[in-house]
Amino acid sequence: MDIQEIEKQFEQRFGYKGGVCFAAPGRINLIGEHTDYNGGFVFPGAVQQCIMACVCPNKTRKVRAYALDLDGFFEFTIDNPEGPKTTHWRYLFGVVREMMARGVEITGFDAVYAGNVPLGAGMSSSAALESCFATALNELFDGGLDRMTLARVGQDTEHKYVGVKCGIMDQFISMHGKAGSLVRLDCRSGEYEYFPWDPIGYRLVLVNSCVKHILVGSPYNDRRESCERVAERAGVETLRDCSRERLEALRPILDPTDYRRAHYVLGEEARVMAVSEALKRGDYREVGRQMYLTHEGLSKDYEVSCEEMDFLVDEARRCGVTGSRIMGGGFGGCTINLVSEELYDAFVAEVAANYKQRFDRECKIIPVVIGDGARRVN
Ligand code: GLA
Repeated sequence: MDIQEIEKQFEQRFGYKGGVCFAAPGRINLIGEHTDYNGGFVFPGAVQQCIMACVCPNKTRKVRAYALDLDGFFEFTIDNPEGPKTTHWRYLFGVVREMMARGVEITGFDAVYAGNVPLGAGMSSSAALESCFATALNELFDGGLDRMTLARVGQDTEHKYVGVKCGIMDQFISMHGKAGSLVRLDCRSGEYEYFPWDPIGYRLVLVNSCVKHILVGSPYNDRRESCERVAERAGVETLRDCSRERLEALRPILDPTDYRRAHYVLGEEARVMAVSEALKRGDYREVGRQMYLTHEGLSKDYEVSCEEMDFLVDEARRCGVTGSRIMGGGFGGCTINLVSEELYDAFVAEVAANYKQRFDRECKIIPVVIGDGARRVN
């Protein structure tokens, strides 16, 4: 589906022209997983896959929307704080309400949207949806909100309307992505730095296990609660400010699961810094080594992997791939792989064949191209 098709669908379904089109991307994350809500660093990049929407104010108090990928229509009144019940419709509802809460004078509007960010693959299709509409409404209703505030609109939508207590990484990068660059974001201060991503001799590729990753009602919030409990015990606001020594000293009084989770987070903090340094030197082998270590931590300590994901990482290692790990919130979705050029074709063919043989299901190979953040497209 491209933007022309979405525009055409808008005309057909609403019977008039004049909608304005917007797009916002999904993301990858090189390293720094489950660190965002711990006040730490993340290292994401926007991808070319986007959610795209054609939107036009309709001078009523009603929003009418078609989600083409789900073949669904829904409407709601912007003044009714209840909103729709279906989780998927609550993303748009939440964005509308959060924009209103920030003083943007929104009226009703008509919208058609669709996208090519795979759903439930850990590539942040929901953040793309939120960022797309936050950008659209900000422009169409002269909101004047900056990109960080629009990212917070998306994050608050997850927290208050969908029930996922996510960090800021996904919405941040969907709003701030830049083609050809990854970004290192300090989630405590909000400061960020672009790192040009041009790994000569290497490529990034995702392998989508097609095991659905669903964070709503999942143990994602439970991981966050463990971290918060440890931070409280340590007397700091987030685990970012808890040293290893402090964690070890607290160990006897911590729940063993909470300890392991916090232990992973502190390790991941160090790995993001190691990767930043390695990138400055162009040392991709070190980047890859850290990625494998992250996977180990996510699988054993943080316990957000699963059999299929562990298998995909083991396959990568067996093929001699430089780095591989589960990406995003976990519980399925994609692995991210740093692969040398000469190994690339053999790896993607082999991993696909072996996955099929082992689990009797297909995985999907998704080459990574780092794209731009949220934008108007016509
Ligand atoms: C999800 C959340 C993010 C982040 C990642 C894990 O994608 O939305 O905020 O916590 O999981 O790094």
